[in-house]
Formats: sequence, C-alpha cells, structure tokens
Amino acid sequence: MSEANATETRGGGTGTRGARVLVTGGTSGYGRALAGEFAARGARVIVVGRDGRRLAQAERDGLHAVRADLTVPGDRQAVLAAVRDRFGGLDTVVQNAAVQTPVPLLGGDLERTRGLVERELDADLAAPLAFTVEVLPLLERRGGTVAFVTSTLGFAPKQSAPAYCAAKAGLTAFALSLRYQLRREAPGMRSAVVTLPLVATPMTEGRAQGTMPVGEAARRTVRALERGAQDIDIGKARVFRLLHRLAPRRAARITRDS
Ligand SMILES: NC(=O)c1ccc[n+]([C@@H]2O[C@H](COP(=O)([O-])OP(=O)(O)OC[C@H]3O[C@@H](n4cnc5c(N)ncnc54)[C@H](OP(=O)(O)O)[C@@H]3O)[C@@H](O)[C@H]2O)c1
Repeated sequence: MSEANATETRGGGTGTRGARVLVTGGTSGYGRALAGEFAARGARVIVVGRDGRRLAQAERDGLHAVRADLTVPGDRQAVLAAVRDRFGGLDTVVQNAAVQTPVPLLGGDLERTRGLVERELDADLAAPLAFTVEVLPLLERRGGTVAFVTSTLGFAPKQSAPAYCAAKAGLTAFALSLRYQLRREAPGMRSAVVTLPLVATPMTEGRAQGTMPVGEAARRTVRALERGAQDIDIGKARVFRLLHRLAPRRAARITRDS
C-alpha cells in the first residue's frame, strides 16, 4: 500500500482528465502544487486567493484565478459566479485555504487575543464550512468530491496555535458528518479528509527539518483522490496517526512544542 492511506474508498475513483476543479488557497504552497498537479493531469482548475501578484502568476501558469477573501460572503458569491460562468459546475472542490497565527492565551490584551482567535476560526473553519454549503449545488451529483485539507495538529495539537488546531479538528468532524449525509442523499459524492504532515510551504518557512516537498504531497493527494479514497493521510501523517492511537502521550510530546 502506498503511503497515502486510503482507508475508505467507495465506488472506485474518478479520472482527473477533463475534470473541473476548484482549489481554495490554490495560489501558494501546497494548494498551488495541488492545482498544478490537477492541471498536469488534464483538469481545468480555478484557484482562489487574496494576493493579486500570486493570482496573476497562476493565470500566467494556465490556471483560472479568482481573487476573493473567503471570509467575506460577497466574495464567496463572486467565486461561485465565476465557476458558473467559466465551468458551469464542478467535479472537485478542495477546501485548502488557511492561515496559522500564534495565539498566546494568557497574560495579553483580552480584546486582542479574542480577535486573533475569532479571525483564525473565521478563516480556517467558518469560511470553509459556509463555502461548502454554498458550493454543493454546483458539484456533480455523480462523483463530485469535496476534499478538506487538515493537519495532524487537528488531533495532536501544539501549544502555540490553539485556534488553528481547533479549526482543523472541526474541519474533520464537519467532513465526516457531510460524508454520512452524502451517503444517504447523494451516494455518488464524496467528502474526503486530507491530513498533511509538515510540508515545505510559506506557512512552515524556516522549519526545513523533516518537511515533505509540496510537489510530492500534491502528487500523493491527487492519486489518492483518483482512487476514490476519502481518508487520506499523506506521508508521515499515517505513521503519526498510528502512534497517536497506540501511544497518545508520546505523540503529544512530539507535537505540543513543535
Ligand atoms: N504546510 C504544512 O506543513 C501544513 C501541514 C498541515 C496542514 N496544512 C494545511 O495545508 C493547507 C495549505 O497550507 P500551506 O502550508 O500551503 O499555506 P500557504 O502557503 O500559507 O497558503 C495558504 C493559502 O491560503 C490562502 N488563503 C488564506 N486565507 C485566505 C482567505 N481568507 N481567503 C482566500 N484565500 C486565503 C492564501 O492566499 P492569499 O494569502 O493570497 O490570500 C494561500 O494561497 C492549509 O489548510 C494548511 O492548514 C499545511
């Protein structure tokens, strides 16, 4: 078995050639590599982000780029309009956009701390949940996939980023509930959880040790999605999940100060 841990598959995979794919946060890091991997396999890809320079580069690279802050409801509506306009509908949506902010919970200014927590939850949890609800009608009922990008920090948190870790845990729970609803209401559709290990991106800049190259993480992800996998642990995330099950305190020691 490959390192991408396809623990649950249903109805086989779907081909990428000709597929219509949207990657939120597809302008940087892992999301950008994922968008490139989908495109290299013949998909038409829309990427969404805020930074104009990165969006322009994505367009030059042959991707469709839409500028939006996904925490803003009107911006999300503009993304949906662009999807309808350019593709008519979608086969795959990857909920990848996120930020990670250190939040010291004690001893600081209360208002500021609360603001940091709220902004992080808004970007990493509330926005992807709202966007999922909004984008579902545009997804193919036969074979449409929503993939949620999460982290081992969602089940083994680190001390410095409590809101980020909480958001990633929440994303997984939402993805599973959605999966159960799809099973009943739209059995051809999938809700996948992609759990990444430490990957070399702008988010992890300066932490080169032990990071997986983004290209490799992206290739493994797309291959797993093509196979129809719904629980996708990339690289060391698989081993780490096992360690967390067998020796949770040991796993916690590894991540809590990471
Ligand atoms: N790198 C890792 O080791 C690692 C490990 C586990 C999980 N992950 C997850 O993998 C995903 C990608 O992370 P990365 O490391 O590739 O980070 P990154 O390079 O910082 O990319 C984040 C992307 O999200 C976009 N984004 C953030 N907030 C947004 C908003 N409000 N509206 C629209 N776009 C927004 C950014 O675009 P703009 O800045 O242009 O808006 C950027 O394209 C995230 O979900 C992250 O939590 C990463």
